[in-house]
Amino acid sequence: MSNFVEETVLSVHHWTDRLFSFRTSRQPGFRFRNGQFTMVGLNEGKKPLVRAYSMASPNYEDYLEFFSIKVPGGPLTSKLQHIKDGDQVVIGQKPTGTLVLDNLLPAKNLYLLGTGTGLAPFLSLIRDLETYERFERVILMHGCRFVTDLAYADYLTNVLPNDEIFGELVREKLVYFPTVTREAFRHVGRITHHLQQPSFFDDVGVPPLSPENDRIMLCGSPQMIQDLRTLIEGLGFEEGNHGEPGHFLVEKAFVQR
Ligand code: A2P
Repeated sequence: MSNFVEETVLSVHHWTDRLFSFRTSRQPGFRFRNGQFTMVGLNEGKKPLVRAYSMASPNYEDYLEFFSIKVPGGPLTSKLQHIKDGDQVVIGQKPTGTLVLDNLLPAKNLYLLGTGTGLAPFLSLIRDLETYERFERVILMHGCRFVTDLAYADYLTNVLPNDEIFGELVREKLVYFPTVTREAFRHVGRITHHLQQPSFFDDVGVPPLSPENDRIMLCGSPQMIQDLRTLIEGLGFEEGNHGEPGHFLVEKAFVQR
């Protein structure tokens, strides 16, 4: 299989003037683990113009879904944001990435911490039965500037908990904690802020963070990752990766430019 394959856009959803997601067809031979990313973009002249995107759809669906920011003046996203049903996009056939369950040591609780489009890899992981087999609680925190940036909030609040296959597990194990930083909402403040409040853990019904009980995946901007890394390494968490499972895993949310 060549490195890039053309797929057809099946649908596009614009969440805000800064965020959109889209679905494409999928080669039957395109295999990935939930939490991974691949290169996605447009065929332009000789060389495809691509950026890394996490799969937001779980690996058993026959389509692929991606969640993207629209970067003003960005070489790819200023064009990609105009795609429509039936258009072609190119998709790299070599998915990779560290945010996979096998890279974590066993524990009770899994924290999935994402800001902005850093939510994407977690949307596949929370629809993976293995996630719920391995962990008693899955705490999905999504940090955004504004309430309208909380993409997938309705799906996570109203649809997934009533899903035929996942509903029961999700109601029992998944805690969705959306938080915004620049306007009033039921949760206000950065993820780093909440994780330093004892009341946060009381509300969720779990003990404070510890390497004994908890595993963490991070996906966001370099600064978000740096701040969270400092916080959790200070609590004794050690980073894992391929071949050496650990207490936490890191992936930067990709398209910034
Ligand atoms: P803030 O509004 O205080 O900058 P962005 O759209 O810039 O990627 O930000 C997405 C969300 O991530 C915002 O709520 C933003 O908060 C938050 N954020 C930005 N930097 C950090 C950080 N270092 N740690 C945690 N959250 C952050």
